[in-house]
Amino acid sequence: MNILGIETSCDETAAAVVRDGQKILSTIVLSSLREHSRYGGIIPEIASRRQIELISLVVKEALLKARIKLPDISAVAVTAKPGLIGSLLVGTSFAKSLSFALKKPLIEVDHIHAHLYANFLIVNDQTKNFATQQSLPAIGLVVSGGHTGIFYIKNFKNMKLLGQTRDDAAGESFDKVARMLHLGYPGGPIIDRLAKEGVNDNIQFSCAQLPGTEDFSFSGIKTAVLYYIKKHRHNEHLPIKKIAYAFQSRVVSVLAEKCLAACQKHKIKTLLVGGGVAANSALRKLLLQKAKEQKINVFLPDLSLCLDNAAMIAGLGYHVMTRKV
Ligand code: KG4
Ligand code: ZN
Repeated sequence: MNILGIETSCDETAAAVVRDGQKILSTIVLSSLREHSRYGGIIPEIASRRQIELISLVVKEALLKARIKLPDISAVAVTAKPGLIGSLLVGTSFAKSLSFALKKPLIEVDHIHAHLYANFLIVNDQTKNFATQQSLPAIGLVVSGGHTGIFYIKNFKNMKLLGQTRDDAAGESFDKVARMLHLGYPGGPIIDRLAKEGVNDNIQFSCAQLPGTEDFSFSGIKTAVLYYIKKHRHNEHLPIKKIAYAFQSRVVSVLAEKCLAACQKHKIKTLLVGGGVAANSALRKLLLQKAKEQKINVFLPDLSLCLDNAAMIAGLGYHVMTRKV
């Protein structure tokens, strides 16, 4: 069964064709990110205007690349929530019209759940470690630009939110710290890169643990970074790389500790991670190492599937339709 997925929840215009909820036949992602970078964040009006212009082109390209003709699509899956309202409207209107014209089902998919579903996808013949029905139940850690939370996943119909951020999302805190350091947007990949050259023990930032909960808080560490920058602003050379390292290492250790603690608490042996921050090299390394020590099987999506994409929407769409996982 070939599902066409459409994703337009933020700055991206994305379409993909996925076979049987697993094999990616094509995935196209166009982003208007560069147009937003000078504002230090996403401007919703710019995002939705670009999406209107690009959506039909991107869908055509995804079908062409998958060598699938429109009538051979079994259903159209689309991100229904959460996201920027104007952007979601572009994707859902397009998907609804297409499903109506083709007389094929329209499947509405939750973007956050889809980030976790990315672990079930097979990108190419090199994909070795992908989740299957046997991997469930699992604990899910979603770390994106807009959301951070821990889920208990019995299956993709039955997901319980155990805890979430009380203020900034993990990705948002990377973006805000990068902005304070005038590094550009989005900040996550830049901080990830700089931190590798800034390994040190001299700078320490603390990050709230919120013990006894599965909640997070990242506004405190963000403020701690701000105060550090203010205090040292007269220094000739602000140690940007060291600050990036100190901030990143604290955030990733809180993320890793809390999701692995949730696995222990709920006696779960599988951890699924998803969202843009799942691309962070320090988080990936730490999770793989700690999970091995604790005999927990951790799944991290292929780097191409951490950031927003439509393959995860088409994949989860298949399961929403067939109720398999
Ligand atoms: O999941 P995503 O593409 O969009 C949302 O659904 O929000 O995540 C985007 C977020 C941004 O905040 C970006 O800075 C962050 O993911 N990000 C990273 C890395 N790559 C992207 N954060 C840390 N390290 C990275 N390598
Ligand atoms: Zn996302």
